Amino acid sequence: MNQMTPPPKLEIIPSSAPFSEAQRSWLNGFFAGLLSTDAPAALSAEQGAAVLQGDGDDGEAPWHDQTMPITDRMKLAEGRPLRRRMMAAMAQQDCGQCGYNCNDYSEAIAGKSEARLNLCVPGGKETARMLKALNEELENAPPASPGSNAPPAVTAPITLGEPGRSRDNPVPAKFISRRLLNKGKSEKETWHIEFDLSGCGLDYVVGDSFGIFARNDLGLVDQIIAMLGASHTTEVRGKTLREVLLDDVSLAPAPDSLFELVSYLTGGAVREKARALAQGEDPDGDAATLDVMAVLQKFSNVRPHPEAFIEALEPLQPRLYSISSSHNATPGKLSLTVDCVRYVIGKRKRLGLASTFLAERINPGDELKVYVQKAHGFALPEDPKIPIIMIGPGTGVAPFRAFLMDRRATGAPGKNWLFFGHQRSECDFFYSDELNALKTSGLLTRLSLAWSRDGDKKFYVQDRMREVGREVWTWLAEGAHVYVCGDAKRMAKDVERALVDIIAQFGARSTDEAISFVGELKRKGRFQQDVY
Ligand SMILES: Cc1cc2nc3c(=O)[nH]c(=O)nc-3n(C[C@H](O)[C@H](O)[C@H](O)COP(=O)(O)OP(=O)(O)OC[C@H]3O[C@@H](n4cnc5c(N)ncnc54)[C@H](O)[C@@H]3O)c2cc1C
Ligand SMILES: NC(=O)c1ccc[n+]([C@@H]2O[C@H](COP(=O)([O-])OP(=O)(O)OC[C@H]3O[C@@H](n4cnc5c(N)ncnc54)[C@H](OP(=O)(O)O)[C@@H]3O)[C@@H](O)[C@H]2O)c1
Repeated sequence: MNQMTPPPKLEIIPSSAPFSEAQRSWLNGFFAGLLSTDAPAALSAEQGAAVLQGDGDDGEAPWHDQTMPITDRMKLAEGRPLRRRMMAAMAQQDCGQCGYNCNDYSEAIAGKSEARLNLCVPGGKETARMLKALNEELENAPPASPGSNAPPAVTAPITLGEPGRSRDNPVPAKFISRRLLNKGKSEKETWHIEFDLSGCGLDYVVGDSFGIFARNDLGLVDQIIAMLGASHTTEVRGKTLREVLLDDVSLAPAPDSLFELVSYLTGGAVREKARALAQGEDPDGDAATLDVMAVLQKFSNVRPHPEAFIEALEPLQPRLYSISSSHNATPGKLSLTVDCVRYVIGKRKRLGLASTFLAERINPGDELKVYVQKAHGFALPEDPKIPIIMIGPGTGVAPFRAFLMDRRATGAPGKNWLFFGHQRSECDFFYSDELNALKTSGLLTRLSLAWSRDGDKKFYVQDRMREVGREVWTWLAEGAHVYVCGDAKRMAKDVERALVDIIAQFGARSTDEAISFVGELKRKGRFQQDVY
């Protein structure tokens, strides 16, 4: 039998010491614990600083994968400097909504030039919670000694300060119109939205995104005011409560600070529940469904004071959309292609903030606050002769409409191939007239379509790519740049996998070689993604 040998008992307090047997045993245990090599030792100032700075980091970011859960990402970042663990906490989409990419946002927090820990929209509450914990580590760490390997100084986004070039300095633009892109019995509601930029003088390059500040729904705001038992004219922060709720604060999802506020205002089991929710627990299995209104309904006996209530909410964040027009083709105008987010939880209809604002809460002629978010690594090739392959199902077609408009306006001679897909050919073929006309004119060299719900079996853009893999490979061999836009979680990965398979099959390479080939395309800027 394999018996575990107990560890040797450590005798630190000699038997001659003036203690009783019980006291001696307790003290031996206490000092053994302190001296144990297994126990996490307190860090020296130098070690502490090294954790925060670059020491022990190889610069790689194996967690930089938007499909990986946060627990796996944090595991991969274990033992890395704090700023690298902060990066692993981000959603890894490099989507730009925070105003940085994932790496620069974490560098900015670690370098203390950015104090906001809640800017990662796709990471949501789990990223914000992790950043809060890591930031506490940062606050408690010993200061870096002079001359040590200090973290690289982080420059705020270069456009910061310039009007209309960052989320921190938006400008007013005019909403012109909306047009529904789906027809008949479509399950989708996608809008072509147009803005007039002539008043604010903003310009942009195809590939850039457009940031918009939306207003909350008035009906929801008034229900919340009623739940608070307040008047909509109550003054908060120098405005009326209604104005603040409409323009300044997010009403979904409920932040931890709101649960904390509820816990301060109540007692007993209810207080425990609110406390648990504030700590990220899910006592009733409904945490994911709790927006601000649902919290007021769940804790209906609690009526926070409007000021405290507003203080507990998060600021309203802007939303980004890929620009679907070209400044070269239509100067002073800008368009977006927006899928409307609506869903029902329990009996209540929930509205995506910005998409429904653009779909129904803004009228032609109204102004809204906007900014252009410069694309980093998503742009047409500098050489207009280079062929491009664009893969954009659903709203992913947006920047490719812009690319095509731009190539037509500038007379770029390069070949253009678009893979577009959506649910049903009959009702979800966005911009079909335009795309068919571009094809007839010869500007759009190839248009490959994939309808996921026309047949019995799902058929996606990557299935169409595999069917024409030989030609895809020929275009790649001719130096084509490849672009993917749309869903980050599943589509982008699946399309990349299809590309690897095509390169392996038609480029006569092993899978590993094909993966390296795609890696090389990425390094050379020949494979670019704009995913969300
Ligand atoms: C660089 C970039 C480019 C983008 N380009 C486009 C584009 O061209 N077109 C486009 O349409 N979008 C685009 N997006 C997405 C866009 O920014 C918004 O995220 C999207 O419009 C939703 O915002 P919203 O304010 O309407 O919804 P929100 O108020 O943000 O609500 C969305 C949230 O609601 C929840 N939710 C949604 N559906 C359900 C459901 N069925 N059940 C439960 N919860 C649910 C999810 O938590 C989801 O995150 C882009 C994003 C980025 C970062
Ligand atoms: N944050 C948000 O709330 C929000 C809002 C809007 C968009 N988005 C994101 O943006 C994406 C784009 O939305 P969208 O309305 O433009 O279109 P979409 O819902 O992504 O659908 C576009 C087409 O892609 C298909 N598709 C589904 N899974 C796929 C996969 N793994 N590979 C390739 N194609 C796949 C869909 O087919 P089936 O549906 O038939 O499977 C459909 O035909 C969404 O998927 C979502 O992730 C998020």
